[in-house]
This record gives sequence, structure tokens and C-alpha cells, in this order.
Amino acid sequence: MYTGLAARLLFMYGRAWVTAGRSVNMAAAGGLVCSWGRGEDGQLGHGDAEDRPVPTVLTAAFDAPGIVSVICGADHTTAYSDDELQLYSWGWGDFGRLGHGNSSDVFNPQPIEVLQGVRITQIACADSHCLVVTAAGQVHSWGRNQNGQLGLGNTEDSLLPQKIQAFQGVCVKTIAAGAEHTAAVTEDGDLYGWGWGRYGNLGLGDRNDRSVPEKVSSVEGEKMVLVACGWRHTMTVSASGSLYTYGWSKYGQLGHGDFEDHLVPHNLEALKHVAISQISGGWRHTMALAADGKLYGWGWNKFGQVGVADNVDHCSPVQVRFPNEQKVVQVACGWRHTVALTETKNVFSWGRGTSGQLGHGEIIDRNTPKMIDALSSDGSACKQLESSKAVPMAAKVWVSPSERYAIVPDENVGNGTETHVPQSDAKRMMRV
Ligand SMILES: *[C@@H]1O[C@H](CO)[C@@H](O)[C@H](O)[C@H]1NC(C)=O
Ligand SMILES: *[C@@H]1O[C@H](CO)[C@@H](O)[C@H](O)[C@H]1NC(C)=O
Repeated sequence: MYTGLAARLLFMYGRAWVTAGRSVNMAAAGGLVCSWGRGEDGQLGHGDAEDRPVPTVLTAAFDAPGIVSVICGADHTTAYSDDELQLYSWGWGDFGRLGHGNSSDVFNPQPIEVLQGVRITQIACADSHCLVVTAAGQVHSWGRNQNGQLGLGNTEDSLLPQKIQAFQGVCVKTIAAGAEHTAAVTEDGDLYGWGWGRYGNLGLGDRNDRSVPEKVSSVEGEKMVLVACGWRHTMTVSASGSLYTYGWSKYGQLGHGDFEDHLVPHNLEALKHVAISQISGGWRHTMALAADGKLYGWGWNKFGQVGVADNVDHCSPVQVRFPNEQKVVQVACGWRHTVALTETKNVFSWGRGTSGQLGHGEIIDRNTPKMIDALSSDGSACKQLESSKAVPMAAKVWVSPSERYAIVPDENVGNGTETHVPQSDAKRMMRV
């Protein structure tokens, strides 16, 4: 999960597809938003359901000024315009995750009317729920809520954004969303968790769900400043740069040198002497960026998404190497791929490439960072960007909704047993 800093490039938690949203302020004309990867639900925002193998500008479909952040959910996308004080969403609409008051899919950016005029400082989107933090430090949530991940005190899906009443009087600084859980850090440095907790991913010392935010007392006294979620694991960073991870670790995604789940935040010993400045979680892998620009990754690595030139899982942090030792300034994990922006304004991607999500115009996996030419200052930068009218990828395989298969979290999972999860590229789907 990405937290919205002032970087020029903003992507988010994507899944098998390819999104990286992009917000560029370099042109006099203002911002450009690009997307690439899987488009079967309209999540690329080009008005169709086609994949795009290279970064493609959202043109006529999206002329909102002042877009300052673009955040990807699994099959949907949101973008916020600071000029208009308007949040937009598009893509797969099941469970109301687009916040439009119904479950319709939308193939072009559409304003979320009920948030018109609300100044938003951060957006978090996961598989099927979304949240925003307002300038007043309040949180609104919408979408799927079967495990209480909206924090509203119930388990009813919400088609429209609703304010989390539990944060009345509390000033929230940042939020993060996992598959079915949510985490927050307040201005005071308190850490909260709610939603699905089967792997200890709420950090509350047990495996129970919560439908309202609950403070993680085990780290009280340590002021937290960042939080991020993977699918079923969570990371937080303290003001001094110490990284803590908790939740599911079957693939080593917690980074503690083993494959054990942790039910409370556990300090990552291997990075004890490294000040962490940004964190991001994928499906089962984790990336941590150090203040000195070095990038570390660990966890599931079947497709090379850790970026360390092999395809074996790593249960401890490994440094990701970039050409010419370029320093990284921002990192974002997709479902099974990773994207990074370097200090020299080059964009790199690696991991699963099957839907074009790496943006290189090809559909192969890569286990080391490769520069996306069209977005990078050492490449062609924005000179050759495709527009929405670009010819979509020929290799596209259409998967009809009825052929996508369902995964519903198994209520009888017990303590740490893995819920059945597909290894293939078929998408997950709502209960029908
Ligand atoms: C869902 O909401 C959107 C945005 O308000 C609207 O354009 C669309 O027509 C609605 N769909 C249905 C089926 O009502
Ligand atoms: C999970 O539960 C089973 C049986 O209920 C128990 O034997 C096992 O030790 C538990 N494992 C963990 C990691 O708690």
C-alpha cells in the first residue's frame, strides 16, 4: 500500500494486472495520468476492457485538473484532484467499491459525488474496499465489509463512503488496506487494526476479526508514523525508522528469517540498523525503502517480484540492485509485481508480466528491475506515451465473469491454515 507523499509518481496495490497510476507535474499543461496492464474490468480508465502493455495516457476520458494521486485497488482505481477537491473512481464495481452508490462497473473515471468538496490527504484501496483520510484527520470507508474492514461496527457492505465514527476526536494520519483488513496510524503515533484477523494481521494478539478500529497496545509508547498492508500481513514504521511486521508469513513475507505468523508487531531484526522511510506490501511479498535510497525486498518470489535475480522465496530482507546504484525514492507493490521510482526519475518494474503490468510492451516475468523507457528520464520520458486510442495487446485473453472463479474466505480456516488461493492468473470473484 502506498502512502501519498510528494513524489511525482503514484501507484498502488494492483493485482495481476498492471496499474500504476501516474501523476506528472512536469509539463506546463499540467498532470498526465497513465495506466497500463490488465484492463478487463475497466480499471485502466480508457473507456474499454482492454489490456495495455505500455503506459497509456488517459486522454479525453479524463481531463480533471490537479490530479495529485492515483491509487490502484485490485481491479479498480481512484484518483484525487486537489484543484477540484474531487475523488474519482473507475473499474470493477462489485460490493460498491467505487463508492458511487451502486455496484456498476465504470470504464471511465467518475466522480464520487458524496466526497465532493472534501479535502483528502490519503487514499487506500485494497481488493474490494477503499478508505480516505481527510484533511481533518477523519476516515471514510466504502465497499466490501464482510469482515468488518470498513470499521463501521457492522459487516454490511457500503455502496457509499461513510465516516468511521470510532475515530471521532482522534486525528488519523495514515491508513492502509489489505485484502480484508485495515490499519491506521494516528497523528499521536498510535497504531490501529480492524477487519479480518485470522493470521494475526491486525496485530492485536489474537486471530479474531474486529468491526471497529482497535488500538494495538503492544507497541504503545513507540510512536508509529507509517503503516502498510500486504494481502494478509501488515507493516508499520516508528518515528525512529524501526520496521515492525505482523500477520501471515507462509512465504516469509514478514522477513523474520522464518515462516512463522506473528500476532503482534514484531521488530524486524535484520533491518535494525537501517532507517526505513517507506514500505509497501504485495500479495505475499514486502518491500522496504531505506532513508539512504537502498531498497530491500522479501517474501513470495515465484515471479521474481522481490527483484533480486532469483525466483526463490526470501524470508529475510535482500537488497534490490539498480543500474548505476541509483537511489530509490518511491516503491509500490502490485499483486505480484513491483514498481520503483529512482532519484534520477527513472521508473523500474519487475515481477509478474503476464498482463503487461510491467509496462515494457511485453508479457514476460522479470526478476530484476527493468526501466520503463516511456516514463523514465534516461529513456524517452513522456515523449512517446501512447494515448487511450492505442492498439491494445493482441495476446489478450478474455475471461468472462462466469469463468472467473470464486474465493470466499473460509470461515473454518482455524489458526494459520492458508485459505485456498489460486496460483493461476484467473481472477477472484465475489460470491455468487
Ligand atoms: C451507478 O452510479 C453511476 C454514478 O452515479 C451512474 O452513472 C450509473 O448509471 C449507476 N448505475 C445504475 C445501474 O444505476
Ligand atoms: C493450529 O491448530 C491446531 C489444532 O487446532 C494445533 O494443533 C496447532 O498447533 C495450531 N497451530 C498454530 C500455529 O497455532
